[in-house]
Amino acid sequence: MNQKRTYMRILGFIKPYRSLLVIAMVCMVMVSLLTAGQAYMLKPLVNEIFFNKDHFMLMVLPPALILLFFVKGIFDYSYKYLLQNVGQSVIRDLRNKLYGHIQSLSLSFFHKTPTGELISRIISDVTLIQGAVSNVLVGILKDTTTVIALIGVIFYLNWRLALISMVLLPIIVYPIVKFGRKHRRLSRKNQQTTAQVSNILYETITGNRIIKAFCTETYEKNRFGAMLDHLFLIIMRDTRIKAVSHPLMEFFAGIGIALVLWYGGNQVLNGVSTPGDFFAFMAALIMVYEPLKGLSKINSALQQGIAATERVFDILDIETDVSEKKEALELPVIRESIGFHNVSFRYDDKTMVINDVDLQVKAGEVLALVGSSGGGKTTLVNLIPRFFDVSSGSLTIDGIDIRDVTLKSLRKQIGIVTQQTILFNDTVKHNIAYGSPDATEEEIVAAARAAHALKFIEQFPEGFATVIGESGAKLSGGERQRISIARAILKNAPILILDEATSSLDTESEREVQQALENLMQNRTTLVIAHRLSTIRNADRIIVIQKGRIVEQGTHDTLLPQDGVYKMLHDMQFQNEAMQLNNAE
Ligand SMILES: Nc1ncnc2c1ncn2[C@@H]1O[C@H](COP(=O)(O)OP(=O)(O)OP(=O)(O)O)[C@@H](O)[C@H]1O
Ligand SMILES: [Mg+2]
Repeated sequence: MNQKRTYMRILGFIKPYRSLLVIAMVCMVMVSLLTAGQAYMLKPLVNEIFFNKDHFMLMVLPPALILLFFVKGIFDYSYKYLLQNVGQSVIRDLRNKLYGHIQSLSLSFFHKTPTGELISRIISDVTLIQGAVSNVLVGILKDTTTVIALIGVIFYLNWRLALISMVLLPIIVYPIVKFGRKHRRLSRKNQQTTAQVSNILYETITGNRIIKAFCTETYEKNRFGAMLDHLFLIIMRDTRIKAVSHPLMEFFAGIGIALVLWYGGNQVLNGVSTPGDFFAFMAALIMVYEPLKGLSKINSALQQGIAATERVFDILDIETDVSEKKEALELPVIRESIGFHNVSFRYDDKTMVINDVDLQVKAGEVLALVGSSGGGKTTLVNLIPRFFDVSSGSLTIDGIDIRDVTLKSLRKQIGIVTQQTILFNDTVKHNIAYGSPDATEEEIVAAARAAHALKFIEQFPEGFATVIGESGAKLSGGERQRISIARAILKNAPILILDEATSSLDTESEREVQQALENLMQNRTTLVIAHRLSTIRNADRIIVIQKGRIVEQGTHDTLLPQDGVYKMLHDMQFQNEAMQLNNAE
């Protein structure tokens, strides 16, 4: 039942190409018929030319043979080309759909699913599906019709002899089935191990810095080596099976052919049958072997394909937990406020990370969030662009629930500098202009200048055209941070979220960037998270978050005298700074 649904869904992907597929199928049937025709032609060839010494036939048959090969070749080419065309189109569509779907899923999906696994779904599982689709189609259509046509020829030529060979057939087919099953089991193991190998590769290449820092090169080399040895053994076992199955089958086939030769030869010598009949018969019998082998592959291709298809559809069936309503509105530009109304939030089924937060952020206000690590500051601001949806309560902009508006109109209004800077392996220019494709050269330079990034960018030999490496690996932490600040500046959105935006900068550049950010904050609604309290002294309002609750709020000047959490955080930092100053002296 489940399998049937899987078939139907795959058929849905093939449907747009059905006319191509029908032509391919016709071509396949033609190839089968012409193959049988070739075998049959041996009969007149041997009888008329060699025994009856018919000169006319000698003129006719060789050109006819050439024609037959030629026509068969055209059909053979056509079906292979068309079938590949359909298969690759299905692959492309599936990958597009899968990728589009993955992009539409919420952040929590990406937190749960390992990157390596997603990549292997899109690359190798989809390829397996294509292999299955074309193998099965070729198997069912071409191989089956070829076998039927050839067996037809065999019976037509000599039904007695045909019956004898049919009895022998199972002996030859048995090893095909037997070994096929073993091969399938091993190839599944092979895939699993290959996936593990690529997982190790992915982790150890992206996390190479840690490997170096902890001197675990040998450990990782051994781990990888052990995995490769395991893979080697699996492949060699598979190779043994594949290598022994062919000679074994040929041996059995040889016995069969010897029997047929003996019996058929007798018939010819006794004048019951003609040599032409006999040769055509033998040819057809030998030719049956190839398509028979093809048929034996169908089942394993099918199983592999179904498993892969299910893995792919599993992902396609995941519904995003941050979805857009059908009748979603365009969110107008913020004019009044962002409102948190009794907002609570938890990741998965864990404990509440945000507890009953009630908060109004007035348009144009600079609101600072402080509090100890793990308190829920990042989580709270992540709710505004709907990276996650509130578990209870609601979040509004100018009184409109953000779940009622389109994601695009919401996110367009938000400029964000995240705690972990996220850059792409592209040029400085493209990283700054990411999401602002219409930005002019001047605007990009101006954004870089405002983020105090211009100086170091211009020092690169290739300037804005410098490629910054995977996740900006070729930049320092502070440089990376300034690029992502420039990106937010360029986006020029009315709501600004700065999550530890200047944490990687030294005091001097922090002061400079701070100046730029303060300019940027003018006329914008800003939520700024900072551990270094000196950077938020000028905020209009400071809220202190502990364990997902707002425990204090006010300005720097009203909070300090309260002798609460803010004062404690402030005093600790002040002591640290004083200590550092002392050490420096
Ligand atoms: N994706 C996630 N899945 C499950 N739990 C999470 C996830 N992200 C964060 N948490 C948990 O939520 C809590 C709040 O995390 P959050 O990142 O909001 O803290 P924070 O106040 O920003 O801390 P910091 O100052 O260190 O950045 C933490 O206890 C953390 O373990
Ligand atoms: Mg945080």
